[in-house]
Amino acid sequence: MGTRRRRVSVIYFISKLVKWDDLSMEIISNPTHDEIKKAAQALKDGHLVAFPTETVYGLGADATNEKAVSRVYSVKGRPTDHPLIVHVSCINQIGHWAVDIPEYAIKLAQEFWPGPITLILKRSQLAKDFITGGQNNVGLRVPTHPVALEVLSQFEKLGGKGIAAPSANKFGAVSPTSAQSVIDELESGFIDEDLILDGGQCEIGIESTIVDCTNYLPKVLRPGAITKEMIESISGHVLKLTEPQSNTRAPGMLSTHYSPRALVELNAKAETGDGFIALSNIPTPEGAIRLGSPSNTEQYAYQLYELLRLGDSIGLRKICIVLPLTGKLSEAIFDRMTKAAVSRK
Ligand code: TXA
Ligand code: MG
Repeated sequence: MGTRRRRVSVIYFISKLVKWDDLSMEIISNPTHDEIKKAAQALKDGHLVAFPTETVYGLGADATNEKAVSRVYSVKGRPTDHPLIVHVSCINQIGHWAVDIPEYAIKLAQEFWPGPITLILKRSQLAKDFITGGQNNVGLRVPTHPVALEVLSQFEKLGGKGIAAPSANKFGAVSPTSAQSVIDELESGFIDEDLILDGGQCEIGIESTIVDCTNYLPKVLRPGAITKEMIESISGHVLKLTEPQSNTRAPGMLSTHYSPRALVELNAKAETGDGFIALSNIPTPEGAIRLGSPSNTEQYAYQLYELLRLGDSIGLRKICIVLPLTGKLSEAIFDRMTKAAVSRK
């Protein structure tokens, strides 16, 4: 417990060729109640706070503060017409951000929040173009990670209405599932007053399910831990999965996304020197470098992004991936890795 200003070692600096001053944001491990209050105040003051959610780490900013939100875009290197998800502490807060909410969306929120699902709803006047990328709708989510929930409720006690938080990675790269990965991704963009809340490794490891709730029927835009079947059973509607398109403005739907630096190949034969990720019951091809052996699909999702980062950190040119075929998260893993594989083609 407790605050700790983690300064990265001189060797680390030299190897990364950046200055000491560039890395001076504060990192707080297992934050206490008071430390979370401090983070909420930092957000209210217009600073950035990276925080854990049950899916991946988010890079948070006050969703009503245009200047703070513009820093999120610049730190990530994300085009400004790509919308951000607004995180709130509970379903009662959605009235600030959304109007004309369909009955089925209320049912989904009641059933799955707090949890790994984002609902796209018609925006209120509070959801400005700098959050929605100029679209008439807004993405909302109530995360379930206790640190995220407490930051949100402390922020709301200070008069805040919601925290905009994309995944805390560079645009197009792999989402971070640990505080160290946030540093590795975004260190040079942080300034002294920014914070990283370290709440350990994210439990799910794959980004939230996104459901478009702006039409008569719900539509899954990005698969995640809340599956199509779960949404169908609560909403009472049969769903279609949206095909990815390369020209869409929503980056989670772009087919070029979620990519490590290494080339990703799906279900291909790994050759000598290639990285290899597969369930533990699949043997390592001769000469391949086994990056991980998750024992089931949940473990696979939990470890996947860190394993891809490991492959990059040891300078692999190619990572061969054998996808898990069953389990709640297999569709989401397929979705992300298909996009990662397309990215370097
Ligand atoms: O699990 C998650 O959703 C994580 C954690 C931090 O909550 N967040 C996350 O945010 O993955 P981001 O920005 O990396 O991905 C969100 C996706 C993007 O593809 C974005 O374009 C899409 O959601 N999105 C956000 N608002 C939208 C909107 N109004 N309409 C359509 N797509 C939207
Ligand atoms: Mg993202």
